[in-house]
Amino acid sequence: MGVSVLVYGAGGAGRSLCAALAAAGLNVELAGRSPERVGAVARDLGVPYRIADLRDRVSVLGALDGVHLVINAAGPFARTAPPLLSAALTAGVHYLDLSNEYSSHTHAWFRHRDAVARQTAIVCGSGFGGTAAGLAALRAVAEVPDAHSLDILFVPRGSSGTAGVLRSTLSLVAGGGRGLLNGTLRRLSVRRFARAETLPNGDVVSVAPVSTGDLVSIARGTRVPNVMVFTPVRVSLRVLRVLMPPLSVLLRPGWVREAVVAAVMRRKGRAETPVPAPRMSYAQATATDTSGRSHTAVVAVPHTRDFMAAVCLALIEEVRGGDVAGCHTPAQVLGRDRLDELVGRMVQT
Ligand SMILES: NC(=O)c1ccc[n+]([C@@H]2O[C@H](COP(=O)([O-])OP(=O)(O)OC[C@H]3O[C@@H](n4cnc5c(N)ncnc54)[C@H](OP(=O)(O)O)[C@@H]3O)[C@@H](O)[C@H]2O)c1
Repeated sequence: MGVSVLVYGAGGAGRSLCAALAAAGLNVELAGRSPERVGAVARDLGVPYRIADLRDRVSVLGALDGVHLVINAAGPFARTAPPLLSAALTAGVHYLDLSNEYSSHTHAWFRHRDAVARQTAIVCGSGFGGTAAGLAALRAVAEVPDAHSLDILFVPRGSSGTAGVLRSTLSLVAGGGRGLLNGTLRRLSVRRFARAETLPNGDVVSVAPVSTGDLVSIARGTRVPNVMVFTPVRVSLRVLRVLMPPLSVLLRPGWVREAVVAAVMRRKGRAETPVPAPRMSYAQATATDTSGRSHTAVVAVPHTRDFMAAVCLALIEEVRGGDVAGCHTPAQVLGRDRLDELVGRMVQT
């Protein structure tokens, strides 16, 4: 493929994605803010690189010169998505990201009309969380066409313990529980909504409501007015109900989260994070209609990074070949059949 793709972010996610796109024969370059770090990763992968600090719009626009599509793999996306997306729209460069953060999804949908006017595609949530949950939702809603509520459970496992993943997790906890109730976003009481859930592999875990980008994107993709998203927390239900509310308040200031990240990363030392062993990750969606009829659909993939790379490759192909202007979910762009086929391929390999 002669299409020119820029992966912004040379951390764990950016590195593995860039390697997969280069292996697939794409004309891919790496970008980021730190010349030392980006240069080292790019040399390792044998790809060219560009340096751009997202606080400097001119340098970002310069880095997008000649680029067809940029993939934002630098989190926290609340900070990186607005400047990169804005520059991409100005430059007429298609934009994909790996975010599952509530605020960056909200921002991306807010730019939908600009993207249509610029004939540019925005696809947010192209990692495991957004894509697998979107597919599970499509499967569940296909069985309950008049669904009025969707409960999403996503269980990402085997993700690397990078600073970026830790930052996203802490932001999720700080965001507390929120849900879409009759089309309006409301805070949810963790004490009331936390519950025990049996995972598809038979494990019983405590799950808490969280505010992910799925609350925005899945509602847009399916038009279901009530959406809640849950994720497992590795403590007993009683501890979860007691500890989560004060913890979420404690973690609200960004500097507290940064202090936790710094302390955890110091403890881990400077050793390169090992590539995690494959473990089955799940996204589960339960659609229910007003008569109480419900259907649960499960999407299971063995390695989230391989899945993310396959999804991005398929999205690049679609965006390149088709008319994908505006903001979309990966499930909207690829459709259920393509995603079913992609998940099937993951499970077989
Ligand atoms: N790891 C995965 O498999 C995976 C999969 C899907 C999604 N994600 C999500 O992707 C994000 C990154 O994860 P990761 O594992 O790659 O984390 P990571 O290894 O800690 O890397 C984070 C990257 O983001 C860059 N970055 C952070 N803030 C930035 C800013 N303000 N401006 C420019 N660059 C900035 C960092 O640059 P510096 O090196 O200069 O600090 C670094 O390259 C997280 O939100 C994570 O949840 C990760």
